Amino acid sequence: MPEADGTLGKKVFIETYGCQMNLADSELMGGVLADTGYSSAESLEEADVILINTCAVRERAEDRVFGRLSHLLRFKNDKPELVLGVTGCMAEHLRDKITDQAPYVDLVIGPDAYRRLPALLDKATGEARDPVIDVKLDKAEVYEGLTPKRKPGVGGWVTVQRGCDKFCTFCIVPFVRGRERGVPPHEILRQVENLAERGYKEVTLLGQTVNSYRYEDVDFADLLEQIVPIEGIERIRFTSPYPTDFTPKLIETIARHDKICNYLHLPAQSGSNRMLDEMRRQYTREEYDQLVDDIRAAVPDIALSTDIIVGFPGETEEDFEQTMELMESTRFDFAYLFKYSERSNTYASRNLPDDIDEEVKGERLKKIIALQESISAEVFKSKVGGTYTVLVEGESRRDPNELCGRTGDFKTVVFPKADGRDIEAGDLVDVKVTDCTSHTLLGELA
Ligand code: 5AD
Repeated sequence: MPEADGTLGKKVFIETYGCQMNLADSELMGGVLADTGYSSAESLEEADVILINTCAVRERAEDRVFGRLSHLLRFKNDKPELVLGVTGCMAEHLRDKITDQAPYVDLVIGPDAYRRLPALLDKATGEARDPVIDVKLDKAEVYEGLTPKRKPGVGGWVTVQRGCDKFCTFCIVPFVRGRERGVPPHEILRQVENLAERGYKEVTLLGQTVNSYRYEDVDFADLLEQIVPIEGIERIRFTSPYPTDFTPKLIETIARHDKICNYLHLPAQSGSNRMLDEMRRQYTREEYDQLVDDIRAAVPDIALSTDIIVGFPGETEEDFEQTMELMESTRFDFAYLFKYSERSNTYASRNLPDDIDEEVKGERLKKIIALQESISAEVFKSKVGGTYTVLVEGESRRDPNELCGRTGDFKTVVFPKADGRDIEAGDLVDVKVTDCTSHTLLGELA
């Protein structure tokens, strides 16, 4: 019982860095802790436990966490009984560096140890003076049967797959999240039904390479097919698909169901075949282009976004030009653009020297950011005049007389409230787009 083990009334604050999978994992930890009697702290000051859920995908993400930890030392000094924990990918990657550089951290736990969180916290709260460490990876752990403590809103995440088997040569994920495994479909359906019952309108299915999902004979298209009939869920999204895991059946499934949103994040990483090969992406530029053509032929109004890395080992000006060319020809709606960051353990860190000057990486990054900004501005401008169905998320941050929400193709829309129409978060309304910025559509109720 919570009271007997002393957790009743204890407050936990979870701070999340990195991807949506991490946000979902933080909700999972919140759920595990709520079941043991912890409640959520509204601020760092009132917390008895602070957990920093971390990302290891680039060095900068890790540097930020070290900065954050030294800032949080203040709270430990003010309140010695405070438990400070580092969870997630960086805990897995840098357990020794964390305990060396931030010896005041009480708890270091990896992405497969969240079920044991209450027991680990008990241990860290006890007399133990050394940090409590649990970074064991577990290829069977999919957190079946747990219910995340979700943030209120119109949309929720459901993790359908954990880990990754791709081993792209630049990427640390398989090392910190372990092997790929699918969550059983009955568990996924339970999670989505739970979202629907609690009034959520949108679900985003999460996996590192979500469309490689498989559980026994159920593939990703089958899984979508099982989720579509769930009443109350109006929109289904998923991220991130891997280019070579698209099947004609999956494309056809996306095209056939209105509930499955017309937006895909399709990481390209590079436009150069030589780089794609060195990155071990398993597709060529031509195959990527063909996939985009096939998707656009099946879903003509689909929005696409991508991830690009510049400055991968050996990237020449010509390779980089080919990436620019890919971006110009594909015209992504938006893009996440990164400088290569060497990660220990990866194939690239062991075999490919990080040989592109920081300055050159910076210049290339600046160039593709400018290119993408101009493409995004044009794409958003092309939406002006159209009418789109928007899932209302609430009042806009800027102005309480305005509402904001998203189109099916994932664009933020801001529009004034209308006299006499009572519109709430979770409603689907038609909005005529009258203007835009490079990242937001502006409109009025149609
Ligand atoms: N350096 C830079 N970017 C990286 N990504 C993954 N690993 C690295 C790395 N070592 C980027 C990829 C991936 C996104 C989530 O992060 O573009 O798709």
